[in-house]
Amino acid sequence: MTEPHSEPLSEIAQRMLTRRRALQAGVAGALTLAWYRPVFAWPREDGGAPSLTHGTGDRIEVPEGYAWRVIKAWGDPVLPGASEIDFAAQTAETQAQQFGFNCDFVGFLPLPLGAEDPQRGLLVVNHEYSSPELMFSGYDRSFEHATAARLQTELAAHGLSVLEVSRAKDGGWVATDGEHNRRITGETPFEIRGPAAGHPLLRTNADPKGTTVLGTLANCSGNVTPWGTVLSCEENFDMYFAGELPEGSDPRIGPWNTRYRTGALQTWGPKRLARFDLTQEPHEPHRFGWIVELDPYDPSSRPKKRTALGRIMHESAGITVAEDGRVVVYSGDDARFEYLYKYVSEGTYDAEDRTKNLDLLDAGTLYVARFADDGTGEWLPLVHGEAELTAEHGFSSQADVLIAARSAADALGATPMDRPEDVEVSPVDGKVYVALTNNSKRTEADAVNPRVKNYHGQIVEIDEGEDRTSTDFRWEHLLLGGSPEEHGGRYGEGSPTWLSCPDNLAFDGKGRLWVSTDGQPKTIQKNDGLFVVETQGAEKGQVRQILSAVQGAEVTGPWLAPGDTSLFCSIQHPGEGSSVDAPSSRFPDYDEARPPRPAVICVWREDGGTVGD
Ligand code: FEO
Ligand code: CA
Ligand code: CA
Repeated sequence: MTEPHSEPLSEIAQRMLTRRRALQAGVAGALTLAWYRPVFAWPREDGGAPSLTHGTGDRIEVPEGYAWRVIKAWGDPVLPGASEIDFAAQTAETQAQQFGFNCDFVGFLPLPLGAEDPQRGLLVVNHEYSSPELMFSGYDRSFEHATAARLQTELAAHGLSVLEVSRAKDGGWVATDGEHNRRITGETPFEIRGPAAGHPLLRTNADPKGTTVLGTLANCSGNVTPWGTVLSCEENFDMYFAGELPEGSDPRIGPWNTRYRTGALQTWGPKRLARFDLTQEPHEPHRFGWIVELDPYDPSSRPKKRTALGRIMHESAGITVAEDGRVVVYSGDDARFEYLYKYVSEGTYDAEDRTKNLDLLDAGTLYVARFADDGTGEWLPLVHGEAELTAEHGFSSQADVLIAARSAADALGATPMDRPEDVEVSPVDGKVYVALTNNSKRTEADAVNPRVKNYHGQIVEIDEGEDRTSTDFRWEHLLLGGSPEEHGGRYGEGSPTWLSCPDNLAFDGKGRLWVSTDGQPKTIQKNDGLFVVETQGAEKGQVRQILSAVQGAEVTGPWLAPGDTSLFCSIQHPGEGSSVDAPSSRFPDYDEARPPRPAVICVWREDGGTVGD
């Protein structure tokens, strides 16, 4: 059931209508009363597309005619023979065989590879971080409670899960498990590839060659490549390290730049786990902050860190193939006033020979975006030897530029953005969409970041014309977040609803952009949700809500399943801010003997129709 909204819907509708009238004064006949009907209706009385209102409860809400189920939740067995979680006796060994914590990105790949209407597939899921107070009863975040065994358990709850899934008779998907099931943790060996591999700043006592690193951390969003691998982005890795960075390190990214610490692993890990202590391993932080690539079809493959794409707090990896076959990857650096990046591969994609594509992300050109106020923009190359990226300015090689990508981008005059999160490329017209989630610290607006104290974020549309490798583009806003009436939100005419803090993005086959939010509990005192935004035609910029999450949770990683009749997403950090002993959420078990558990869910239309229609 939908929770009652805190104020009458008719009043909200009237306020939005008034706002729109003010905005559109002079446009004869632009408005009729009919536009607000969907704010109430799910589905609409005329049988049209559904839209929820913002929810506040502790139950997942989806429109009438939709269903959902959990695919896997934290602690569920992943590897063959793994045990069910014993909440009172967790160990690193058992956790490394079970579904990790705080799931984020979800990507689907067909089984077998290349199947056009697959009934089976692989789900690859990121586990961004751990919340020990929601894992261990009685936990108070003190040093005494942060035992080495618990910190190792948290490390095992990081990384990725690979799950085999099958289409169920009801139209949804279920975990069926199988030989591809895999856990990658904070201690799984990765190969370091690309220009920075072996660089002196990447060498440690445990790895004097600087080519092998244990684990991946803070994996936020990601993507599936055209050749059937997964890109997973290391975002807030700085939180895991403490101490002083050595000379030559990027002063713009490091322990002293820590914005917040979310868990005991971040707070106490460096005191108990030597490699996160910079007094013992000063170079270890240089081995994180990369985009990693995993081949989920080969369970024995060693995943790789692709240094050619730069070292930042990577949120995302929007990927496409240019007309000439070169591969293009867009990535946001999610921190306030950070930048948007684009990588163009040197080699070209070969649809006939998968193995030729597997290292396309090791050589190419990285660019950073500069947005002009007149609606144009350019991609500035982060190439050693060009502009100020020379030895004279502290960059003695391309590896130096990539390791210190933020400082290199500073030198080129990139545009500081309102926290660039996910980036996706439209399958319909190739336009690129960037979610800028918010920036409460902005004091000076510019055209692309048009609001000071920006609590609600915006989505920017980038048009590079026909050529994805272009260094010029045009841009405009798809929407400005927040209520049109109270926060200056801006949407397509007749939008049934609105959103705040856009974060993760995914496209369906019709070119509709699915947007999950992270922050609505703080900015509008409503649960986060999953929304669908039109990007084409007269309805462009209209927003409808398809899912409302639970107490304390953000929605992450939306991914449309084949055929667009179902989708996957993560319910991350349910009960955030509370504890195992007094949880604010009971999702998904609603059992007083169990804490809330982050989970990947599947949502589908019971009549087999297209989700979002
Ligand atoms: Fe992990 Fe920027 O969200
Ligand atoms: Ca995110
Ligand atoms: Ca995405």
